[in-house]
Amino acid sequence: MKGLVWTAATRRVVPAAEAKVPYGLPGVLFGASLFETLRVIEGRFFRLERHLERLERAAESMGWVPPARETVVEGLARVLQDPGLEGKDLRVRITLLDCGDGRVPETIVWAGPYVPPSPDLYRRGVPAVIAPYRLDETAPWTTLKTGNRLIHQTARRRAERDGAWEALLLNTRGRLADGAISNIFFVSGGVLCTPGVDMGALPGIVRDAVADLVGELGLSWRPGAYEPQDLYAADEAFLTNALIGVVPLVCVDGRRIGSGVPGRLTQELKDLYERLREREAKLLDAWLP
Ligand SMILES: Cc1ncc(COP(=O)(O)O)c(C=O)c1O
Repeated sequence: MKGLVWTAATRRVVPAAEAKVPYGLPGVLFGASLFETLRVIEGRFFRLERHLERLERAAESMGWVPPARETVVEGLARVLQDPGLEGKDLRVRITLLDCGDGRVPETIVWAGPYVPPSPDLYRRGVPAVIAPYRLDETAPWTTLKTGNRLIHQTARRRAERDGAWEALLLNTRGRLADGAISNIFFVSGGVLCTPGVDMGALPGIVRDAVADLVGELGLSWRPGAYEPQDLYAADEAFLTNALIGVVPLVCVDGRRIGSGVPGRLTQELKDLYERLREREAKLLDAWLP
C-alpha cells in the first residue's frame, strides 16, 4: 500500500509499507477495529466533526474508550503536513484498533493521493447487483464502520467480477440495507427513498448531507424498509459515499432504472452536494487546539 501512516503509539509518520502494529491486538486478530474514510481537497475537510463524532460514538458502543479528539487531529495534521502529501487531493483513513483490556485503541491515520474515478462514472452512471450475502440488521455493529468487512468486500469483489460497480446488500428480512461501500437512494413518485439505519444502513456523512439538501429539490425524504422491487421500479437512483460523493445508479441486476441514464434529480443533487461541500469545507486549523 502506498501513502503515509501516523500512529499514536509512535507519533511518527512513516511510509505505509513500513508501518508496524503489534500482532496480538484483537484489532488485528479479529477485525475488531473501526475506521473513517474521508476526502481532503486542497487541505480542506467536509464535516470532519461528524466523522469524528461517528467514530467516537462507535467506539463507545463497542465498549472501548475513544481516543482523545486531539490525538486524532494531531495524526491528521502530521500526515497532511508531510511534504510528500501537502496540498494534494487526498484520501484519508482514520483507524482505531482494539487493544483489548479496556485500553484506549491504537489510533492510526493513513493518507494517500486520491485517484478520482473516470468522469464516465458520473456521466453514464454505474450498474450494481444485489449480493447473495445478507447483513444482520439486528447486530449492533452492522451500522458501525468496523474493520470487519468480509461480507462487504467479498460482495463487491464478486460484483466487479460480474461487471458491476457496486454490490447492494439485503438484510435478514430481505429488505435493502446498504451498498458494500455506499448508501443507496432512489426516487419514486417525488419521494427520496433510502434504507433506514434500522434496516442496516450505515449512517453516512453524505447521506446526512443529502437529507439536508432534499427540500431544495422539492422532494420529501423517507428512510424505510424497501424491497429490491421498489428499487427496480424507481424513476432514478444513486449511491453516495465521502470519497465519490453522489454517483448515479442506472442499472440493478441487469434491469434499467428509469430510462437507464442518470436522472435529472440525481444530477441536481450532485451539484447541490458539491456546492455544499465547497461552502462548508474547512482547513484542519479549525480543529487544532
Ligand atoms: C457500507 C457503507 N455504507 C455507506 C457508506 C457511506 O458513508 P459515508 O457517506 O460516511 O462515506 C460507506 C462508506 O464507506 C460504507 O462503507
